[in-house]
Amino acid sequence: MNVAVIGAQWGDEGKGKIVDLLTPHFQVVARYQGGHNAGHTVLAGGTRFVLHLIPSGILHPGIRCVIGNGVVVDPDALFQEIETLAEYGIEVDDRLVISDKAHLILPYHRDLDLLNEARRGDRKIGTTSRGIGPAYEDKVGRRGIRVGDLFEATSLAEQVRENVHARNRLVGDSALEWRPLVEHLLAHGERMRPWVTDVSVFLAEAMKRGERIMFEGAQGTLLDIDHGTYPYVTSSNSTVGGACTGLGVPPRAVTGVLGVAKAYTTRVGGGPLPTELTGPMAERLRETGQEYGASTGRPRRCGWYDAVTVRYSVRVNGLDSLALTKLDVLDGLPQILVCTAYKCGDQVLTEFPGDIRVLSTCRPIYETLPGWSRPTRGIRRFEELPAEAQAYVRRLEELSGVPVGIVSTGSEREDTVFREGSIVGSWLEA
Ligand code: IMP
Repeated sequence: MNVAVIGAQWGDEGKGKIVDLLTPHFQVVARYQGGHNAGHTVLAGGTRFVLHLIPSGILHPGIRCVIGNGVVVDPDALFQEIETLAEYGIEVDDRLVISDKAHLILPYHRDLDLLNEARRGDRKIGTTSRGIGPAYEDKVGRRGIRVGDLFEATSLAEQVRENVHARNRLVGDSALEWRPLVEHLLAHGERMRPWVTDVSVFLAEAMKRGERIMFEGAQGTLLDIDHGTYPYVTSSNSTVGGACTGLGVPPRAVTGVLGVAKAYTTRVGGGPLPTELTGPMAERLRETGQEYGASTGRPRRCGWYDAVTVRYSVRVNGLDSLALTKLDVLDGLPQILVCTAYKCGDQVLTEFPGDIRVLSTCRPIYETLPGWSRPTRGIRRFEELPAEAQAYVRRLEELSGVPVGIVSTGSEREDTVFREGSIVGSWLEA
């Protein structure tokens, strides 16, 4: 049984906690896309870890963690993360596996990210400024530098020289020198060498031995380069298909798909957010939910749960079940709104429109549900949730079209409800 864990909204759904929670049932956790733009927050033993590049499974002894070919790796960020983990007594040792085909994020990608954003003016994406987009541009433009290139000094020097010159022409200065960068990269390569391998072979062998793999998605479905709110998206396939291309595993290797959705909606950066709130209710969700970017600290935009977007994620990813997070953030609200469809001109849309020009004309159609006054925080059994909270979860199941197998009621691992009879339980037992 291999399960993909996918963000069903615009990222920051709480995937870090869910992956961490399920990890003891797997032997391998594999990241397949994105880079250190991600910020997976895990609270373990009273310590708050924010993992950006290394799969969250690293917090569990014995679990092997894979960075696939679909990931873009900033070697400086990677070693910084390894050092931070070491400060907490977590050694990656031989548990880390990195694809030789993963592309590198180099300092010029960060410069170009900032330059691209400045050029877009009002239409800026609001990227994390980590160089993600430019690194993927180089990959698709067939001039990228891959992890495996770090071991060939002569050709590496040539590639870096060409790319740095191109960067200097674009940025309009010659501040970046290629020779020191090559030296720096060769040293990084030597440190990385023991972890670098053909990930497709590694995973095929693991599966042959009967080991279980969790595919850890980063960002969310609506940030997918193809299926998200283009151009206000990240530059990779965060939907389930990315797991196959980003790791070199066949589609049948993904035997279960769990979507993670917040009990409301957030987004960080530009682009449409149909249920966006302003004023005191937005503040209330932001402060109670601590909705500030785990990577950049930016305040997140907040809105009501949007069943249209989650239904879309169910379709695109074939979600079997949802993990609903941060239910406790809604504690104490007298009533809660849920978007069931969009009104666009005279039309009522129940399918998420792929074109943001259409989406930006849409207004949410809301259903109002009663809130609950008794706190849900820390509750671990579904029957113990206030009746209104149970009804809220059940209504989201109906509207989203899939059962909610997990409800998260707080940031600690233990603050979690596993629904009885859910498919998630059968995955974990199998
Ligand atoms: P980039 O991935 O840095 O290029 O940013 C593109 C868009 O994706 C921006 O709107 C970012 O805020 C958003 N984004 C990237 N990574 C994350 C994430 O991990 N959580 C939420 N939003 C993200």
